[in-house]
Amino acid sequence: MELFQALKTRRSVREFTGARIPAEDIREIIECGTYAPSALNAQPWHFIVVDDTSLFPDLMKIHPYISSLGSASHAIILCADKSLEHAPGNWMLDCSACIQNMLLAAHGLGYGAVWAGIYPAADRMERFSQYFKLPESVSAHSIMVVGCPKNPLPLVTDRYREEKVHLNKW
Ligand SMILES: Cc1cc2nc3c(=O)[nH]c(=O)nc-3n(C[C@H](O)[C@H](O)[C@H](O)COP(=O)(O)O)c2cc1C
Repeated sequence: MELFQALKTRRSVREFTGARIPAEDIREIIECGTYAPSALNAQPWHFIVVDDTSLFPDLMKIHPYISSLGSASHAIILCADKSLEHAPGNWMLDCSACIQNMLLAAHGLGYGAVWAGIYPAADRMERFSQYFKLPESVSAHSIMVVGCPKNPLPLVTDRYREEKVHLNKW
């Protein structure tokens, strides 16, 4: 898919067919995530790939807004190891860039995905830490729910607002 088309047609997808995504495509999605920019090039990200659907009900219990996982193929929990940071406090920004790349990669491959936030909800972050027994220096940032879309993507609306663009001053 052409870059500009991918950027402008990506939408959150929350209903899937239940079909399985091949492991090599999951790898490609994650690899695209790792090309994201990060502060001082720290690349603090780690990825927990969940392909065992018997774990999905647990995940839906510890995250209140991922009922979409019920029909998905994989969940990818994006975490950051803060001990890898060179400019402390940027891990959540690095991970945000990473997951956006992953969403676009999934879209480009013809899959559907949604970014479900874990950070900054402290209780949610704690539940993921406990469930996955994350090391002390590691925080969960987000969960990407991904699968084969059940329906055509919703029509893309025009989101560009001239009044939000300021020339040289506010
Ligand atoms: C930080 C963040 C947290 C989000 N959390 C959730 C979530 O928990 N569950 C969900 O279904 N969608 C979640 N979304 C997806 C947004 O609802 C979605 O991006 C927004 O409605 C715009 O729709 P679009 O992605 O189709 O453009 C989240 C998005 C962001 C950026």
